Amino acid sequence: MLMKIRVINGPNINMLGIREPGIYGKETYDYLLKMIEDYAKEKNVEVDFFQSNHEGFIVDNIQEAYGKIDGIVINPAAYTHTSVAILDALKSVGIPTVEVHISDVSQREDFRQISYVSKVAIKTIMGQGLKGYLMAIDELIDYESKNK
Ligand code: DQA
Repeated sequence: MLMKIRVINGPNINMLGIREPGIYGKETYDYLLKMIEDYAKEKNVEVDFFQSNHEGFIVDNIQEAYGKIDGIVINPAAYTHTSVAILDALKSVGIPTVEVHISDVSQREDFRQISYVSKVAIKTIMGQGLKGYLMAIDELIDYESKNK
């Protein structure tokens, strides 16, 4: 059976291409999905996607992944810095998770310096632009091959 990976994006990631292009780039959310889909095909893994601007919907979606999904790539966006609920959901399901940030949050405002999800993520990738999502998929494939 193919490895199943879910890519979860938090608030405002659907605005890629429009939103602060100097920070997040000119490519759209649809472009991101297509790029990840093509990469997943190449790597022979299944991928599905979820994006929400609502914290509770992200919690619901993580819970729904239990028993179905082998790895999660998550960019919790602004909820990175505030959400104990998303951290607890990831802990609840116990699915290996890689955290992604398009921008290099370590070089940004003080309020972005805390990440709750980092406490559970096997790896955090930041400042690599959209390519960071592909690097996250590689991390999960690597992790799965070592921990099966
Ligand atoms: C982000 C960084 C967060 O601080 C911000 O709130 C986002 C996007 C990133 O991908 O660089 O919405 O997670």
